[in-house]
Amino acid sequence: MNREKMALVRQNFVRVFGDGGDIRCYFAPGRVNLIGEHTDYNGGHVFPCALTIGTYGVARKRNDNKIRFYSVNFNKLGVIETNTQNLVYQKNLGWVNYPLGVMWAMDERGKKMECGLDIMVFGTIPNGSGLSSSASIEVITGFILNDMFNFGFSNQELALIGQYSENNFNGVNCGIMDQFAIAMGKKNNAIFLDTATLEYEYAPLKLAGAKIVIACSNKKRGLGDSKYNERRAQCEEALADLQKKLDIKALGELDEETFEENKGLIKDPINYQRAKHAVYENQRTIKAVEALKNNDLETFGKLMNESHVSLRDDYEVTGKELDALVESSWTQRGVIGSRMTGAGFGGCTVSIVNEDDVELFVERVGRDYKEKIGYKADFYVVDIGDGPVKVNF
Ligand code: GLA
Repeated sequence: MNREKMALVRQNFVRVFGDGGDIRCYFAPGRVNLIGEHTDYNGGHVFPCALTIGTYGVARKRNDNKIRFYSVNFNKLGVIETNTQNLVYQKNLGWVNYPLGVMWAMDERGKKMECGLDIMVFGTIPNGSGLSSSASIEVITGFILNDMFNFGFSNQELALIGQYSENNFNGVNCGIMDQFAIAMGKKNNAIFLDTATLEYEYAPLKLAGAKIVIACSNKKRGLGDSKYNERRAQCEEALADLQKKLDIKALGELDEETFEENKGLIKDPINYQRAKHAVYENQRTIKAVEALKNNDLETFGKLMNESHVSLRDDYEVTGKELDALVESSWTQRGVIGSRMTGAGFGGCTVSIVNEDDVELFVERVGRDYKEKIGYKADFYVVDIGDGPVKVNF
């Protein structure tokens, strides 16, 4: 969270919606996942952390039931208006369907907005980058409503409401990782979350002077959402095959040995590959956290690299852009580990790089990427931040 940016968004709010009244300011982070990809809807473990980039939000109650939205990022769209009686998905409303979905989900839980709101948001997360700009908007919306109307939801509940709205209002069958990482974020810590039980533990990110570098491929996810739902369905089919013999509720309950002993039950070879990734990735995540706790960064990095290979070869969600970034990263000096992060199909990679080598890393990987793909990648050396906050001036 950057106070100067917050102040600028507040100024913008006054310019667009007028001054006066009780104007309140908020921030919710984005997230990066260090390891545990496509495991959250398979009852496995994930290891994400909240970033200091995210979504700035400014809001004020209205005297009527209108809800008016304005995004600084999409300023050409101007003010988008709906009302508290009309919390339904409307394709032409674009990004507004994310906050609207959260309002709808809260309304479904009996928490009605007593009046309308003016809301302005500004995101510093590159849009469509796989750093959860949508989950960040969902969580900040829940946080704003909670504060404005004293709804009393815990941050964990805000995460679940965000996921519920994304599944049922916006039609993406995402797991809980993104919303949870954002709502429960803690400075300098990653969150080791068991998505089957929602038990979690904070793990201090002791990187011995190394930095987390995010490389954005600038390839938008595009068809990603439908491919995402397809991967999820393939895992469910594989699970159903395994359940003919095994008494399990999710792929995340299997260790590698049990999976290998029973893999013959999975009829479709593609579904087998998907399930293999889900099982092995979950075990890798458990091992990676253990390694981090033991200050064994080298093992942590190797597991990150293996995660990418599995996402590339078995889960098939990387694509040439993310592969180009990661494969170049692996050859650079000072790189402890590198992999794609988030849903895939475009978006970002995450690398852990020794501080002294970061500059050269950015230059070399940037050059290789441009040569191979034809356009440039963007790099961010990121810090691990807290969950959502209300910002007082
Ligand atoms: C997206 C989803 C998450 C998770 C990741 C893949 O970010 O929103 O729930 O499934 O993809 O790990």
